[in-house]
Amino acid sequence: MKIEVYAANTHVTKKELDGKVVVAIDTLRAATTIVTALNNGCAQIIPVEDVEAAMDLCSKMRHNNAVLGGERNAQKLPGFDFGNSPLQYVEEAIRDKTLILSTTNGTATIARAVDAKALYIGALINATALVDELAKLHEDVTILCSGTHGKFSSDDIFTAGCFIHKLRSRVGKLELDDLGRMAEDFYARNSANVHGALSSATHYQRLVSLGLQADLDYCFSIDVCDVVPIYQDGRIVAR
Ligand code: MLT
Repeated sequence: MKIEVYAANTHVTKKELDGKVVVAIDTLRAATTIVTALNNGCAQIIPVEDVEAAMDLCSKMRHNNAVLGGERNAQKLPGFDFGNSPLQYVEEAIRDKTLILSTTNGTATIARAVDAKALYIGALINATALVDELAKLHEDVTILCSGTHGKFSSDDIFTAGCFIHKLRSRVGKLELDDLGRMAEDFYARNSANVHGALSSATHYQRLVSLGLQADLDYCFSIDVCDVVPIYQDGRIVAR
């Protein structure tokens, strides 16, 4: 199996992702939020890049049990029902709802890969479930990290390394690109101390400054969910 890794959503064109099996990562926090909402019974998630468009869509779908979630600058937006804290998406709040989600980098990553052959959403919280699914496909995989505003984000690289490490034990021989090799090594050296490895990351620091330490603890809990989100026809559902 061949695995390529992109460090940020802007590092690859939509066309280059067409027809590939893609895993979109946004460890802090959009991917973790998506996995959590689906794990807690959310019916479907519609990712929308633009805030106004997300608000419009939600007002049209309110009668269909729709709610609006997301952030800019990691903060909940006026008029939104939820921010982007995965801990807000508890079962009582989200079961059977359609979540319309707009985030700074995560939904842009998904938009870039909508023409992929298959598009999965992965985070540390669903790492093993996602990797089990990928191993069954017998296909090459592109790991698309969201990054932050076009820049490398070490929390996403850590997650990419976690997926690669887990895939190796299932698939055996892996063909990696340079970033894939670095990601696997970064994960292997730091898997016992996630906070220690990532606490100097820019987005980690931003979330700490907003008092969101509990989000960080949760986003770094490996394998607490076994849902595998997949994008199909404009929405994300549990596989
Ligand atoms: C994003 O999509 O940029 C993020 O998930 C930011 C965040 O809310 O932490």
